[in-house]
Amino acid sequence: MGAGNDAGPHSVVRRAAPGRVNLIGEHTDYNGGFVLPTAIPQQTAVVLTPRTGKTVTAQSANANQVGEFILGDEQPRGDWLDYVQGVTWALGHNGFELQGFDLSVSSDVPLGAGLSSSAALEVAVLRAIRDAFGLALDDLTLARLGQSAENDFVGARCGIMDQMAANLADGSTALFLDTRSLEFRRVPLPADADLVVIHSGVSHDISAGDYNTRRAECEEAARQLGVPQLRDLTDADLRRIEQLPDPLGRRARHVLTEDARVLEAVVALERSDLNRLGELFGASHASMRDDFEVSTTDVDLLVELAQDDEDVYGARMTGGGFGGSVVIFARQGRGRVAGDRIAQAYATRSGRIPTLLVPPNF
Ligand code: GLA
Repeated sequence: MGAGNDAGPHSVVRRAAPGRVNLIGEHTDYNGGFVLPTAIPQQTAVVLTPRTGKTVTAQSANANQVGEFILGDEQPRGDWLDYVQGVTWALGHNGFELQGFDLSVSSDVPLGAGLSSSAALEVAVLRAIRDAFGLALDDLTLARLGQSAENDFVGARCGIMDQMAANLADGSTALFLDTRSLEFRRVPLPADADLVVIHSGVSHDISAGDYNTRRAECEEAARQLGVPQLRDLTDADLRRIEQLPDPLGRRARHVLTEDARVLEAVVALERSDLNRLGELFGASHASMRDDFEVSTTDVDLLVELAQDDEDVYGARMTGGGFGGSVVIFARQGRGRVAGDRIAQAYATRSGRIPTLLVPPNF
């Protein structure tokens, strides 16, 4: 799949976009900071067939559900169709003229796993619409429209990381992104390590209130510190940060230290210094657990089991939090064995059903 130029105005268009795993840089994107995601092999695929009129029909192979709406009259209904409606709503609000279409969706990006299934759907639909109707959409505009679908239609106040990753990341490099300038650079993943992703079996939903609460806390901390965004803090601000009322001080400290860890992680990746990368993963997880408070007991257990594994350099929770997945770097050639071993130990201890997603089982 991918964005080819094979589409005439009435042809069927197939497009796809991958899920992502964020290596490090969590809850930094809506603070104007740095992130480092990479694409995972799982993806969301859509087939779009233009039709006359303003009706859109959509069916999901996963949910075994059909939905229908009228362009220009999108109404949130609280399920997967909102991401499709959000995309056409955002296009409409940005002056793009659309005609109706029939859409079918299938995805192997797990929902609620912190791997950005919603951005994969938004970007796949945007690519299909762009190519079916010949819209002039550059990569950054496309990502911004996906984010607007979430922020302004679905009601999740997410940053830009996931839509940028779904649109621009690949599986052999990490996308080092400055979420303020949107400048990015691809950093090769280390050839001498295996990337491992395990879903904890605890699902989260970022449209649920906790994510938006964290974002509001960050904005309030920035206001009280007198900076436009927490990205603008430096180590010289640490004393002032400590004086903020709890939990604002801890929230700000997480963002300040996490941004610094992303920069260090890029250096560690470029030097193939996996031990240092592992330490940064550990510090990032501790900060998300203690300062940002977005981890859960089960996810902490999964991270600890991974960190204790003999084949592992480092492990941390990835994504928005409150459940979801853990990202791990393991010794080259040992990823599957270590991943299975960690998942098994976690299942026994937690009673949850984990899934080893990377390396994939296909
Ligand atoms: C979710 C959001 C992203 C980002 C992460 C946390 O995935 O969609 O914008 O904030 O959480 O890093």
